[in-house]
Amino acid sequence: MTQVIQSLAEWQELRRTLSKDLGFVPTMGNLHPGHLSLLQRARQENAVTLLSIFVNPTQFNNANDYVHYPRTLEADITLAREAKVDYVLAPASQALYPDDYAYQVSEIEFSEQLEGTCRPGHFTGMLTIVLKLLLLARAQRLYLGEKDFQQAALIRGLTQAFFINTEVVICPTLRNEFGLPYSSRNARLTPEQYEQARLFPALFHADLSCEEIKKQLVEKGFAVDYVEEYDGRRFAAVKLGDVRLIDNIVVVPIGVQTS
Ligand code: PAF
Repeated sequence: MTQVIQSLAEWQELRRTLSKDLGFVPTMGNLHPGHLSLLQRARQENAVTLLSIFVNPTQFNNANDYVHYPRTLEADITLAREAKVDYVLAPASQALYPDDYAYQVSEIEFSEQLEGTCRPGHFTGMLTIVLKLLLLARAQRLYLGEKDFQQAALIRGLTQAFFINTEVVICPTLRNEFGLPYSSRNARLTPEQYEQARLFPALFHADLSCEEIKKQLVEKGFAVDYVEEYDGRRFAAVKLGDVRLIDNIVVVPIGVQTS
């Protein structure tokens, strides 16, 4: 039976009674198959599963993106029940920011790259909320999607820097029928943009240089924030209208390919 909790005090009281073996999936809601795969893995590997749903205002560098972010709490709770999640924590915004965001956690190296170059303040907002959630969840394991690889790497770094005893498990990216990573933002694409979005994975995964991929994406009508290789991975962020899509893959070094 899934229990939905809004009050942080109630959650903290309850947490004291629960097993140490808790698997945690933090989300901003609008659950999609990618989230469901994280919940399934958390359920397989832990005695208790916690899902948090909180659209975190401080990680949106674009006010329009925050306003239009899909909020589907009732449908998310139904999916959580079907996925047999034990607890859904869905706190109100003020509850998580009693300090009015006066206290912030920032990282000054990897967060300055890739997404950090296009989304000022995003990673500070993200790391700050994740630290709060980690301290509330006191989870044994935290499950994150590889689609947001930079986010996942920064969160792993956060747990190490602050001696947080939670293992960060990074799970494979789940993709739709034409290879686009599932994302809550996909729901905001118009039918025409959704069709056009097919070209993003097709080009991103092609055996072409980053420059060539970028050129072709621009020709096909995408606004390209970056297509870049960093530390053995290729990363890209593009926009269709004001909907931002991101992806990343491991780049196999030349000479290592087996076929
Ligand atoms: O990936 C997300 O949905 C968010 O960035 C997270 C990790 C839940 C923090 O708000």
